[in-house]
Amino acid sequence: MNIKKKKWPIYLIAGLVVLVAVVMLVLFNSKNTPAPTTLSLTEAQGKTLFLANCNSCHVGEGRQGSLIAPSLSTTKSDEASWLVYIKNGKGVMPGFHSLSDQELNGLVSYLKAIQKVAG
Ligand code: HEC
Repeated sequence: MNIKKKKWPIYLIAGLVVLVAVVMLVLFNSKNTPAPTTLSLTEAQGKTLFLANCNSCHVGEGRQGSLIAPSLSTTKSDEASWLVYIKNGKGVMPGFHSLSDQELNGLVSYLKAIQKVAG
């Protein structure tokens, strides 16, 4: 009997497990920072908007980096740039032209809140 032939499913399964582990590491990697414990009303409104419009790319409520988009809790760019990026888009990120000033203000406040926690 051929032993090699009988063992191939084990290697296949082991290979799949490693592959899944690597993909998970890349998609859900380390940059996840803790959530802020309290949010002001403006920050909470920003978070609601964020979950509806941004969380599909900036996963983990914006606090987690992924293959799709960077973490926003550890970004080095400033508030003025965020406003430009959100309104006009950046790279593959679409622009959100229809947001009101109040909504933009809420989003920026939320981004500042998650930055504070990251330190
Ligand atoms: C389609 C996916 C997608 C969506 C939806 C999206 N973004 Fe982005 N965002 C990106 C990508 C990709 C980048 C990096 C762009 C680059 O640097 O070329 C980015 C960059 C940013 C940056 C700049 C980060 C830095 O380090 O300078 C900010 C701020 C930002 N996004 C906020 C938001 C907000 C707020 C929303 C929701 C209103 C949002 N994004 C929705 C994909 C997305």
